[in-house]
Amino acid sequence: MTSPALVAVTGAEGFIGSHLTEALVAAGHRVRAMAQYNSFSSYGWLETLAPDVLDQVDIVLGDVRDPGSVQALTEGAEAVYHLAALIAIPYSYQAPHSYVDTNVTGTLNVLEAVRRQEIPRLVHTSTSETYGTAQTVPITEDHPVNTQSPYAASKAGGDRLADSYHASFATPVVTLRPFNTFGPRQSMRAVIPTVIGQVAAGAQTVTLGDLRPTRDFLYVKDTAQAFLAVGTAPAEQVVGRTFNAGTGEEISVGDLTRLIGKLMDTELDVREDAERIRPANSEVMRLVADASRLRAATGWEPGHTLQSGLAHTIDFFRDPAHLARYKTGIYNI
Ligand SMILES: NC(=O)c1ccc[n+]([C@@H]2O[C@H](COP(=O)([O-])OP(=O)(O)OC[C@H]3O[C@@H](n4cnc5c(N)ncnc54)[C@H](O)[C@@H]3O)[C@@H](O)[C@H]2O)c1
Repeated sequence: MTSPALVAVTGAEGFIGSHLTEALVAAGHRVRAMAQYNSFSSYGWLETLAPDVLDQVDIVLGDVRDPGSVQALTEGAEAVYHLAALIAIPYSYQAPHSYVDTNVTGTLNVLEAVRRQEIPRLVHTSTSETYGTAQTVPITEDHPVNTQSPYAASKAGGDRLADSYHASFATPVVTLRPFNTFGPRQSMRAVIPTVIGQVAAGAQTVTLGDLRPTRDFLYVKDTAQAFLAVGTAPAEQVVGRTFNAGTGEEISVGDLTRLIGKLMDTELDVREDAERIRPANSEVMRLVADASRLRAATGWEPGHTLQSGLAHTIDFFRDPAHLARYKTGIYNI
């Protein structure tokens, strides 16, 4: 029997990274998974994966801001999935330097490691936030980039470096640009866990930011499959290209909240909280994906509807052991 192909994942202990790690193992890979170094020796969500999955995962503590740490992670890998990032928009107003260090310099370190070690495939993670409020819908990959927050700007900086490494050094990088992802394990910085978490904790009144923006919500297992699709497709179909991953359907935060209330059998009183309202020009008002490029190149399709994904997410948050990991009573930035 041949040994499973080794792949490396940054941000593996996070929300999407932990689901991707499971999906990679299910697809027959061995995973070297970076969790950010911390004094608690915490492996984040990786600690909750099933023992037979963890048998195929080597967890290493490290930091993408440190080039040596990244070199050690990627050595001998057949593919690198780079998800590590600072992701919260509100915190990017407070600590923008850390976003540049992590999302721009961290990406540069990953690109350098892949280039120097001649790793055959790098999947770099972008975000729909780089488009800003949709100027045309649905949003294709040719839509202008308009970065309305330091977070979006730092992610676009990483994207541009990835493009430049492909152009300058033929680094085999493919960029995946997921639209808003949701599901079990997501932090309460995002709207869906904020609503479900507050209701699961017994609240009748949920506190949110602006209710008008629309988003295209993709269930996390479909996002993980999109990563796998671009990570394993023949090089000529994907390398040097950027791919949107989204459903093509949009819903406003207000309508989404009402839908969650219905699914949780709760009459919700929704309050807008001034502290959660973003500066007017920074709020992205509309995002909806055209993912036809990804479908054509890889055959990827989302396997979950918004309703079915929400049902799984509600089940997750209703489990008291899961809910206990969250702070439902504060504004999580
Ligand atoms: N959640 C979404 O809706 C969404 C949408 C589009 C793109 N993305 C992108 O997907 C990726 C994963 O996001 P997520 O939602 O899982 O967020 P997350 O915060 O759960 O995961 C990010 C992980 O990166 C790690 N990290 C941060 N700084 C690091 C450092 N210096 N060194 C090593 N690791 C570090 C964090 O510990 C965390 O586990 C990010 O690149 C994000 O920009 C997310």
